[in-house]
Amino acid sequence: MFGKLLNHTQKGQVVTLHYEKQTVYLHVLTDRIINVFVPFYTKEHRSKAIDGSKEQEVSFTLQEMTPSEGTSGSGYIMLTTPSLSCRIHDDFKLDFYGKDGTLLCADYRGSRSPRFILSESALELIRQEGHDVNMAGSTDYPVQCVKVLDKEDCIYGLGDKTGVLNKRHYEYENWNSDIPDPHEDSFKSLYKSIPFFITLKQKGVYGIFYDNTFKSYFNFGKENDGYYSFGSDSGNLDYYFIGGNTMPDIVAGYTYLTGRMPLPQKWTLGYHQSRWGYDSEETFRDIAGKLKSSRIPCDAIHFDIDYMERYKVFTWDTTRFADAKTLLSDFKKQGIKAVTIIDPGVKVEKDYPMYEEGIAADYYAKTPDGETYVNAVWPGDAVYPDFGNPAVRKWWGEHLRFYTELGVAGVWNDMNEPASFNGPLPDDVVFTDEDRPSSHAEIHNVYGHNMAKATYEGWKNLTGKRPFVITRACYSGSQKYATAWTGDNQSLWTHLRMAIPQQCNLGLSGMPFIGTDIGGFGADTTPELMARWVQVGCFSPLFRNHCAKGCMNQEPWLFGEEVLSIYRRYVELRYSLLPYFYDLCRVCEQTGLPVIRPLVLHYEDDTNVRNMNDEFLVGESLLVAPVVEQGATKRLVYLPKGIWYDYWTHREYQGGQYYIVDAPLDVCPIFVKAGAIIPKAPAQMYTDEISNPELILDVWPGDGSYVHYQDNGEDFAYRDGAYNEYLFENKGSNNLDIRKLHEGYTDYPEIKVNYIPGI
Ligand code: GLC
Repeated sequence: MFGKLLNHTQKGQVVTLHYEKQTVYLHVLTDRIINVFVPFYTKEHRSKAIDGSKEQEVSFTLQEMTPSEGTSGSGYIMLTTPSLSCRIHDDFKLDFYGKDGTLLCADYRGSRSPRFILSESALELIRQEGHDVNMAGSTDYPVQCVKVLDKEDCIYGLGDKTGVLNKRHYEYENWNSDIPDPHEDSFKSLYKSIPFFITLKQKGVYGIFYDNTFKSYFNFGKENDGYYSFGSDSGNLDYYFIGGNTMPDIVAGYTYLTGRMPLPQKWTLGYHQSRWGYDSEETFRDIAGKLKSSRIPCDAIHFDIDYMERYKVFTWDTTRFADAKTLLSDFKKQGIKAVTIIDPGVKVEKDYPMYEEGIAADYYAKTPDGETYVNAVWPGDAVYPDFGNPAVRKWWGEHLRFYTELGVAGVWNDMNEPASFNGPLPDDVVFTDEDRPSSHAEIHNVYGHNMAKATYEGWKNLTGKRPFVITRACYSGSQKYATAWTGDNQSLWTHLRMAIPQQCNLGLSGMPFIGTDIGGFGADTTPELMARWVQVGCFSPLFRNHCAKGCMNQEPWLFGEEVLSIYRRYVELRYSLLPYFYDLCRVCEQTGLPVIRPLVLHYEDDTNVRNMNDEFLVGESLLVAPVVEQGATKRLVYLPKGIWYDYWTHREYQGGQYYIVDAPLDVCPIFVKAGAIIPKAPAQMYTDEISNPELILDVWPGDGSYVHYQDNGEDFAYRDGAYNEYLFENKGSNNLDIRKLHEGYTDYPEIKVNYIPGI
């Protein structure tokens, strides 16, 4: 690729490699993370995902290995950190090794040989019947990297892609896309672009974060089982090799780089009710009333686009809502928060302040000729705020005052891929990248990310509270600003099934606060599907029932008594587990580990779980094996090594094997790891209905310890020490040791210990 390695120099922790045709930089950031940078496009990184320097002082060595010592017959440079090494060969071939000398990741040396190529004429023939054929193996991109794939390698991550957990043998693209058709396994992209993946080997594991915002491509052995590739249409070849001993180490490394989700407000972990189509004050009051009368605990109702006056953001329709402020304050008295949708598209309309102000200040994207670029979204003709410009982010953030003053508690950013109804935005639409002009081709995948950043920062300035921002489009690092949902799924069993690997992979990709539209957004749900969906959804950090205008309503009380009581049972289960979820968010802020986890994250040596698509862990202690098949009332469950207990019956199971368990419609099989200590809350209709409730500890048989976190659940005082941290140690035979690790907040009035006997 770049010819012979002529020489190298070192400055601090950056090694410059002078190849015949190209200069390449390796930056040792930590003992486990090395950045590989080929400046094809810009001299510096200009990362949107990574804030500030991530360099830690590392002592590493560089050794010139002579041909005789070299494995390939030619010499190479050996870069060694305390945890890994990289052999740097001619032609820009880099091979990464673990501390024990295991080869983890080698650049591919052979020639590309796609497994399946059809001639253009054959493809043309097939396309005549309307088939979308793309098997030609044309995967040679201007910027790319090809690496060896070993027989046992499994690949995880890559954000919100459809399909199965293990991405090996599949290909994907990163181009944030709003596609209303039912999301199929064959979709190459959805709303989010998270160019990070983890390769789990038979021995060893590593991660790669490819920090490039242009349209990018990932072919994980579909082209050829012996190699995988990642590349893009433009930009730099800028990737981070992340080493470690375990998968959690890799997630920690990736989130060290791109940031971790800040602790959310506690109420955001409650239940949210939504629907596109709630369009008047009466409807909203009716929904809130029915939630109460049906005894469904709830913390938030979402206001979709119909609250606005003709879909103009930063307006509230006063014909259908006599007094939004009073409505929201009445909701507040009932413990219900309002979350409003805010889309980026600003209606083109004379005298509409948001439009006029933005035009006057030059805040919207432009055509290459300098005209304001116009496309269309819900309000009709619309312009696109240029969120890559810091001044635009500030302006937008300040305008959020409109919402905070009305009493809105959270913001839902949608359509920020950005979506466009009049065809895609051309690549050359002019946007800003902080301090320089840029193009749609470069900015597209970070448009939603920048919008979420504007919202997060604006909201934080206005309220001082932890902002609750939901975004549909993301790039790596969006977890610092927003939670996300998986967009417009449908009321299909396949989509309920997909929710599991999709959320697991999002979690591995640094996005822990995620959820799916419970019941399905498009199409019409059935009573059974609804009952099964809430059994999965109650474990999603973002727990929201939402559906589309034009589809059957799907509030929980519309499916008969049986479904309502099942629904209530799982919403109540979630409310009882809120302290556990909140602890998991704290863990996430500290380590990057997600809330919902694939089993492989904690049992990576167990080959039974490497392709586990229908079970997941919540933290380390709960294993959920939901029913995701129509009509099923039993299911096969695999329990990894150790002892597990049925959450409902307390029956003991020996792990490392499969069981067939009963799962009638009202039962979602849940298993608790031996020794688990699960903090719980008393029953409430919303998160802080009881101020300072007691803590209930479910202590399961076996030895174990647990760190529990407690604070005001609202602002940033915890960063100044206003929190309590407890260590609970289960020493067996009903003997729980409770110690405070940190004291800085009001104590619980009582800690009730509930020793659960195994059966
Ligand atoms: C998009 C969103 C959906 C929302 C709708 C109307 O389709 O994904 O959640 O309800 O727009 O705003």
